[in-house]
Amino acid sequence: MKILVTGASGTVGKYAASELLKMNEPIVVAGTDTQKLLKIYGKDVERVKLDFTKEETFDAALQDVDRVFLMRPPHLGKAEDLFPFIQRMKDHGIKLVSFLSLMGVEKNPFPPHHKIEKHISELGLPFAYIRHGFFMQNLSGIHAEEIKNNNEILVPAGKSKTSFIDAADIGLAVATVLKDPEKFKNTAHTLTGPESLDYFEVAEILSQVTKKNISYADPGFLAYRRHYVNNRGFDKKYVNVTMALYLMTRLGTAEKVTDEFEKMTGKKPNNFRDFVERNIDCFM
Ligand SMILES: NC(=O)c1ccc[n+]([C@@H]2O[C@H](COP(=O)([O-])OP(=O)(O)OC[C@H]3O[C@@H](n4cnc5c(N)ncnc54)[C@H](OP(=O)(O)O)[C@@H]3O)[C@@H](O)[C@H]2O)c1
Repeated sequence: MKILVTGASGTVGKYAASELLKMNEPIVVAGTDTQKLLKIYGKDVERVKLDFTKEETFDAALQDVDRVFLMRPPHLGKAEDLFPFIQRMKDHGIKLVSFLSLMGVEKNPFPPHHKIEKHISELGLPFAYIRHGFFMQNLSGIHAEEIKNNNEILVPAGKSKTSFIDAADIGLAVATVLKDPEKFKNTAHTLTGPESLDYFEVAEILSQVTKKNISYADPGFLAYRRHYVNNRGFDKKYVNVTMALYLMTRLGTAEKVTDEFEKMTGKKPNNFRDFVERNIDCFM
């Protein structure tokens, strides 16, 4: 039996798949674009088309599969968008679903991840919830353009702190739980990096490593929204969801540091400075 890796071309899916391959687990990588998967993984890794909005793709994706890494594509804003696939996993007798959730979601009903977790639990589908903090990759990915072009970080997080985690570490955690479904059945894991930083400290580390003068713009919500919708052309709904997440961040929900990652994997989580050094090209 195999492990289905959904969102396998995405930030966490890529790391989860590569860790599972290192562990010699049989995997099948999935997404709406199998050509993209072929380019990333080559022809030796099995791939399958899966679209959460197209039920006719579900059975082929779940064939000979007993464990699943499940992620919610960011543009599927409603929890209910994933419910048909979750039901089909239940019908196929999946013995562990590792769902990529969100830190603090157990106490916060607003993000879709809350409803998705609740739905999985209520169906009696064995789960391992990965409740992680913000990715370090947000800085090297979505926010890199402002850092590279204007030497500034444009995130409306105010003076709050965030315990950033490397998506590579999340991938390792996902692979660890999927490799041992009995041990991790019906568990939830709040995973963070080793330290909590505000964005002034993030700018300081970026400046030291890149030897540029990078500052934190500390924008209000409207300036942030205007920039990402008007200048960057991002979808309004997506930007609104991120604003809600940064509002929570301002209330301190992204600050906590835990040692669960090390307990689970035996590895220390990567810190932000090392991450910037390893990914310096993204900021130059
Ligand atoms: N960024 C953060 O700091 C952060 C923090 C907490 C939680 N999260 C959560 O992490 C999740 C995103 O994970 P990620 O960053 O790894 O994803 P990502 O890089 O945005 O990738 C999205 C993936 O979804 C696939 N996809 C798109 N539409 C699909 C569909 N209709 N059916 C099936 N697959 C589809 C894409 O592949 P194809 O294009 O091939 O279909 C792609 O692999 C979100 O739920 C987000 O809320 C993120």
